[in-house]
Amino acid sequence: MHRARSTIRAAGRLRTLPLKSGRMMSVAATPEPTPSTQALLDLSAAYVLPVYVRPDFVLSHGHGSYVYDTAGKRYLDFSAGIAVNALGHADAGVVQTIAEQAGKLLHTSNVYHNEWSPRLAELLVTLTQREGGLGFAPGTAPGPGAKVFFSNSGTEANEGALKIARKVGKDRGGAGKTRIVCFEGGFHGRSMGALSVTTNPKYQAPFAPLVPGVDVGRLNDIEGLEQLVTEETCAVIVEPIQGEGGVNSAEVEWLARLRARCNAVGAVLIFDEIQCGLYRSGTLWVHSTLPVECHPDVVTMAKPLANGYPIGAVLLRNSIAETMTAGTHGTTFGGSPLACAIGHHVLSRLADGNMVSQMNATSVYLDERLGELPVRFPGVLEGKVRGRGLIRGLGFLDAKHPGSVVDLARARGVFVLTAGKNVVRIVPSLNVGREEVDTAIDVIAGCIAELERV
Ligand SMILES: Cc1ncc(COP(=O)(O)O)c(C=O)c1O
Repeated sequence: MHRARSTIRAAGRLRTLPLKSGRMMSVAATPEPTPSTQALLDLSAAYVLPVYVRPDFVLSHGHGSYVYDTAGKRYLDFSAGIAVNALGHADAGVVQTIAEQAGKLLHTSNVYHNEWSPRLAELLVTLTQREGGLGFAPGTAPGPGAKVFFSNSGTEANEGALKIARKVGKDRGGAGKTRIVCFEGGFHGRSMGALSVTTNPKYQAPFAPLVPGVDVGRLNDIEGLEQLVTEETCAVIVEPIQGEGGVNSAEVEWLARLRARCNAVGAVLIFDEIQCGLYRSGTLWVHSTLPVECHPDVVTMAKPLANGYPIGAVLLRNSIAETMTAGTHGTTFGGSPLACAIGHHVLSRLADGNMVSQMNATSVYLDERLGELPVRFPGVLEGKVRGRGLIRGLGFLDAKHPGSVVDLARARGVFVLTAGKNVVRIVPSLNVGREEVDTAIDVIAGCIAELERV
């Protein structure tokens, strides 16, 4: 079908949007940059590697779920720095923790112990025991039942997890047990190892050859598991809810079969909960509420753990951790007193009962409001809203629409993200309120109506 294109002037650049009819649409987008903003954009164009496509404004500050650009325009941030700012922007407690710890000790390297890395590791393990995960049923007594390795990003956490699984594989099955299984639509990072298990050709092709020995399966394909995961497999890595891939949930039955197959061949099961974990789905881990028969051996995390200060972590069962001895892995910055002090503060706040109840109440409300959209726009949206808690996706029947909705919503002061081929992804801060949900959904609905109208 012929699709007309309308033009949007986005701060000095003309953008085209695919529309249903032949009519043109004109949308008031970002205003022309002020001279001082333009000067920053020019500096960026001149000196920053152009690997990101960004709109022509510059963010300067934020508060709660709102961010402001240098021209004073306010945006409701339902992207939360790609599922990072769990407590919103400029949170007073986070600011105070940073100031206090920065005034005492920023960095020591891992040549020395610091005060916060063991405390954050203990909190991660004991919360997992309390709430369920990593083979612990909810309500397990707290104690030293698992170990943590701290990194600086999600990619680095996955890289560490894959390395650990390779070593476990060799311990268990000798030199040939090195193959790694991942799934279509998964996103695990951009380093050579993490990229090798991130099967999107757009990300992989320019950098081939990648790490060999990777087998790619399909999420929720039970029949394929036996052939996919073999005696040569040392690791299986999967997101229980794929974020970048389109907010696709792994089914419980499939996870149980996957776990059973990993047990049968002695493969390490890694859950990448970097985007979906740490309460975003409503519980500590997506798998916290699943039977222990579905639980992984290793969980990787990053994004919200320090609310935007860089940190990542690998949480491992003791049975896996014991392969790692002094000198087998390491990092200069990972586990710094500053990152871990912030992580401890953020995680303690997220785990608080009142916070969890408030998140769950907001999730129920968001679910209600999102549920209105497929009913209102049956010709545009998939019938079922994807995801759970505060990681949600609206699937579009036309793959060109999500990008248009993201652009239109931003022009109307709301940030959302695309995901996969045909999804608008909604990942607000975890302390977002009902009024903000109303604003975001009303704007998204207005944008879809705009697409429908023209
Ligand atoms: C599920 C998942 N894993 C890994 C990563 C990579 O994390 P980072 O960008 O912190 O390296 C991401 C980032 O979006 C992610 O969503």
